[in-house]
Parts: sequence; C-alpha cells; structure tokens
Amino acid sequence: MFATTPLRLVAVSAGLSQPSSTRLLADRLAAATRERLAAEQDRDVEIHVIELRDLAVDIANHLVSGFPSAGLREAIDAVTEADGLIAVTPVFTASYSGLFKSFFDLIEHTALTGKPVVIAATGGTARHSLVLEHALRPLFAYLRAVTVPTSVYAASEDWGSSGDEYTEGLPSRIRRAGGELASAVLGRTVSGASRAPGLDDGEDAVVPFEQQLADLRLD
Ligand SMILES: Cc1cc2nc3c(=O)[nH]c(=O)nc-3n(C[C@H](O)[C@H](O)[C@H](O)COP(=O)(O)O)c2cc1C
Repeated sequence: MFATTPLRLVAVSAGLSQPSSTRLLADRLAAATRERLAAEQDRDVEIHVIELRDLAVDIANHLVSGFPSAGLREAIDAVTEADGLIAVTPVFTASYSGLFKSFFDLIEHTALTGKPVVIAATGGTARHSLVLEHALRPLFAYLRAVTVPTSVYAASEDWGSSGDEYTEGLPSRIRRAGGELASAVLGRTVSGASRAPGLDDGEDAVVPFEQQLADLRLD
C-alpha cells in the first residue's frame, strides 16, 4: 500500500550573491534527489528551499532575544520536520559561513536526530573542499543527523567541468549524493524512523549484541 503524504525535501542555502552558486547547487541536489525518489517510489515529493539571506536579520534577532520571527519559526519547523535535508553553504574564510552556522545554532541539538542530510558547499578555490569534512560533517554529527557518504563541493572551476581521471565531475557527484539521500529517506520512511536503508520487512535495524557474538562463535 502506498503512503499518500508527499515526501518533504528541504534545502537550506546560505548563499549571499544573486544569482547564487550556492542556491544553484542546492537546487541541483534537490532535483537529483527527487529524480531518484520518483524512480524508486510512486510518491509525490515537495521541495522547499530556504534562502538564509532572507532571514539574516531574523536570525541575528533570535540569537540575542531568544525569540524567532514567524518566518524564522516556519523555516526551523520545515527543517526539523523534513524527510530529507540538503544543507549548502558558501565557504567563507576556510569554513562554513557565519550565517549558515548561526541558523543551525538555533536548531535544538536533538531536533535532527536520525534525519538524512546531504552536506554541500561552494567556494572560490577547490583547495578548501575539505571544509565539508572538517566543519560541516562534525556539525551535523553533533546534531545527530545521518549525513550521507557523498558530500558535494563546487569550486568556481567545477561548474561545467566533467572531471578528470581522479575526480568525478560535479554532475555525477550531485547524482550520487541525490541517490544516497533518496535511499536514506526511503529507508527511514518505509516503516518507521529507525529502519536502515536496504533492510527487508521484518528485519531489525539493530542486531542484539549477544546475537552478533553467537553468529561469530566458531564450532
Ligand atoms: C567574505 C568571503 C570569504 C570567502 N572565503 C573563501 C575561502 O576561504 N575559500 C574559498 O574557497 N572561497 C571563499 N570565498 C568565495 C566564496 O565561497 C564563493 O564565491 C561562493 O561560491 C559564493 O557563493 P554564492 O554565489 O552563493 O554567494 C569567500 C567569499 C567571501 C565573500
């Protein structure tokens, strides 16, 4: 039986320019995820993009007053209630931008527990791509989210490049990350929040430790 509620994908973009490469990367990741979800399950997908530049003043006010505006409350609720999250920041001074961090500072630290997330960043230089691993991944680990293995970094020269013998091009990384997010979202929503991707019905996501020991025992 198909569930009828649409899956909710939320993309957070902390890009400041207009047009913004960060927003473009968020849109591409959302489209790739939707495409894979549509291929795997007959279920509507709603995409909601949150541009943090529109909420910059509200974010600063919330940090000092402790109270969110209606628009910011709506954005925080959308993120915490999403089935899958796409989080994209520009690299500023070798890390995530202050606006990006400030927004996630306002999210209760257990509110993203178990939530499938793709992390992504844009930058002027490819030399800062490890920002995804040393800054974004630990941030979402602290927030207890489930970050998919493929993270996506787009330096200026990556747009329009098809990669080389060592690195995949941007479009194929986007497709891979979108596929991983789709699998994580479906794994989580098929029959409850704790089901791991790839498990059949009736299979437990967690194998009791005693059983793991018994399975290992040699006769
Ligand atoms: C204040 C500031 C600091 C930046 N620091 C870095 C940096 O350390 N490393 C880098 O690769 N790019 C850096 N950039 C470039 C931006 O990350 C890059 O232009 C980004 O893609 C802009 O995103 P947008 O088009 O969505 O605004 C910096 C840009 C600004 C404005």
